[in-house]
Amino acid sequence: NRPHVGPTQCVGPDYRSESQKPIATVSTEVKYETVTTLPQTPQLIALLTSTRFIALTYDDGGYRKIRDRNTERADFIFYSNRIIRLLVEEGLNHLPVVEHTVTTPVGRNYAGLMFQGKICGVSIMRAGEAMEQGLRDCCRSVRIGKILIQRDEETAQPKLFYDKLPEDIAERWVLLLDPMFATGGSAIMAVEVLKSRGVPEERILFLNLIASPEGIGNFATKFPKLRVVTAFVDQGLDSKNYIVPGLGDFGDRFYTM
Ligand code: PRP
Ligand code: URA
Repeated sequence: NRPHVGPTQCVGPDYRSESQKPIATVSTEVKYETVTTLPQTPQLIALLTSTRFIALTYDDGGYRKIRDRNTERADFIFYSNRIIRLLVEEGLNHLPVVEHTVTTPVGRNYAGLMFQGKICGVSIMRAGEAMEQGLRDCCRSVRIGKILIQRDEETAQPKLFYDKLPEDIAERWVLLLDPMFATGGSAIMAVEVLKSRGVPEERILFLNLIASPEGIGNFATKFPKLRVVTAFVDQGLDSKNYIVPGLGDFGDRFYTM
């Protein structure tokens, strides 16, 4: 159980010298133009780890972050929500905007931007539902559809049970939500459902917390126009198709453990 499994980097702001920055495991690089990984900042790495590893502490006593097996459910929810918020904020940067000018209270113009087009969220149940609140916090009264897909525990094959989507989904940009992206089977199945309802691939944005290189590869090859925003690409999959080092079963840790 080596401390660094995967690529490492000195993590910290540019104005610090390399010797002043702690070393941490960072996201594995992927070669697909459609995949955006969140900047590997001290905050993101700490939220994903346990702060003990990168020598930062918080006054709120939040020592145990989401990868740590000893993290209790309340902390897991709190810190997952913080990363989900970062993902949603980054995801919104990938939606189309157009020029828009407003007049300020002092009578001057400000040439800015505004979002173009309607959006909706679609969560892959159960774990994807954990990302809905983060989306709602940023996009007031956003419509949210659901697709219930469950991975078979033995074979890791996804099975589709149910979907309920906004009627006009074909006219919307879709933010597809699922925190875990292992073999990619569940996300691929969800995209097939969206495509069958008339949503073009290039109008789907997949927001994800932890991905495996295998899942990303399968997905990006199958859907070369679909954008993915992920917080972290891990090392790979174990013999049960769990992400490693990973964080275990996200749905169990968020909802029931
Ligand atoms: C998890 C996760 C993804 C899927 C990822 O859900 O939330 O949907 O597995 O694995 P894959 O990329 O190999 O398909 P799971 O089916 O375990 O259900 P849950 O959300 O109820 O935990
Ligand atoms: N689902 C999870 O919650 N975690 C994994 O590592 C793989 C699938």
